[in-house]
Amino acid sequence: MSGMNDPGMNVLILGGSGFLGTAVAQACERGGATVRVLSRSGRTAVGEGVRGDVRMPRLGLSSADLARVREQTTHVVLCFGSVSWTSGPGEVLETHSSGMRSALAFLRELPALRQAVHISSLLALGRAKGRITNRELYTGQRFRNWYEYGKYCAERLVRDTPELPVGVVRFGPVLGPDPRGGRPDTRHGLPMAFPHLLAGYPVHLARRGDFPCWITDATSAAQIVLKALTTPIGRSTWTWFDPAMPTLGEVFTEVCRPWGVVPKIVEAGPLGRFTRLIGERVGAPKELTEYTEPWFDLDVNVLKEIPEPWPVPDPDYLGATGEALRGGTERRALV
Ligand SMILES: NC(=O)c1ccc[n+]([C@@H]2O[C@H](COP(=O)([O-])OP(=O)(O)OC[C@H]3O[C@@H](n4cnc5c(N)ncnc54)[C@H](OP(=O)(O)O)[C@@H]3O)[C@@H](O)[C@H]2O)c1
Repeated sequence: MSGMNDPGMNVLILGGSGFLGTAVAQACERGGATVRVLSRSGRTAVGEGVRGDVRMPRLGLSSADLARVREQTTHVVLCFGSVSWTSGPGEVLETHSSGMRSALAFLRELPALRQAVHISSLLALGRAKGRITNRELYTGQRFRNWYEYGKYCAERLVRDTPELPVGVVRFGPVLGPDPRGGRPDTRHGLPMAFPHLLAGYPVHLARRGDFPCWITDATSAAQIVLKALTTPIGRSTWTWFDPAMPTLGEVFTEVCRPWGVVPKIVEAGPLGRFTRLIGERVGAPKELTEYTEPWFDLDVNVLKEIPEPWPVPDPDYLGATGEALRGGTERRALV
C-alpha cells in the first residue's frame, strides 16, 4: 500500500503495545502519522506510550495526558485485549464490554476525531448459521467461549453508536512473527496448537483440516487498519483474510515445516464427545477442540468490499511463524 495522504494525522491506539497493536502502530508511523499508544503498562515500541485503562472513566488518563490526547487525536484504533480463549466472563466482559463502552464514551469527547476503527474478530460470529457477510452479526448463534461472546458484545456496542465515525475491521487468526520480537505467544488462540503439533502429538480435524481458517499475517492486517483510517472506512464493516486462503491443514503444515516436522493431522469424523476426549487425552488444549470443524460459512466476496489495491501478506509468513518459534526467548520474558 502506498501509505497515507492525510497530513496531520494523530492516531491514538488503544492496546497499541500488543501483538496486533504494535504492527498497526508501525504501519501508521511508516505512513507519516503521529502515533500515541495507550495501555495499562504505558510501554510502546513506537511513538509515545501513555498509561491508561479502557475500563476506567476517561480511559484512566492523567489530567496532563488527558488534555493533550483530547486536543490532538484525529484518529483512534480500538485494539485492546484480552485475547485468551480460557478467560472467564469477568475479565472478558470488563474489557470487551465495559471497556468498549468507556472507550466509545471517550470518543464522543474528542473534538478533532475524524475516524476510528474497531478491530473485531470473525470469532464474534461464534457458531453462526447460514452465509455470513459483513452485514450479519447476530444470527442466533451460540458461542464457543467467553472470548467469542466478548468480541460479539464489543462489535454490538460499536454498531449501536450511529453518531460516531467508527468502522469495524474483522480478522480471523493473525499470524507471523511478533513485531515486538521474541517468540510468538502460544498461550492463546490457534497458536496453542503449535507446541502440541511440534511435539509430534496428533490433532483431530474434520476433513483433515481441508477447510478455510481465514488466517492472515500481522503486516497485511495492520495495512488494512491504516487503509480503514485513511480511506476512510466511515461506519462500514470490512473483513480481511489472506486472499490465498490457506486451509487449516496447510497452516499447520507450513508452521511446522521449519522444524522438519510433518504435523499428525487425523480425520476427526463428525465431531463428538469421543473425539474431544481423545484430543484432550493426548494433550491437545481443550479449547482447540471447539475449532476442529469448519467454523461457519463466510462469503469470500466480503473481501471485495475493501477498496483495492490490497496489501500483500508477507511471503511465507506461516514458515516465518514456525521459524520464530525456534527462537530461544519468550517475548513475555523480555518486557
Ligand atoms: N491476534 C489475533 O489473532 C486477533 C485476531 C482478530 C482480532 N484480534 C483483536 O485485536 C485486539 C488485539 O489483539 P492482540 O493479539 O494484539 O492482543 P495482545 O497482544 O494481548 O494485546 C492486547 C493489548 O491490549 C492492552 N490492554 C489489555 N487490557 C487493557 C485495558 N484494560 N486497558 C488498556 N489497554 C489494555 C494490552 O496492554 P496492557 O496489558 O499493558 O494493558 C495490549 O497492548 C484484540 O481486541 C483482539 O480481539 C486479534
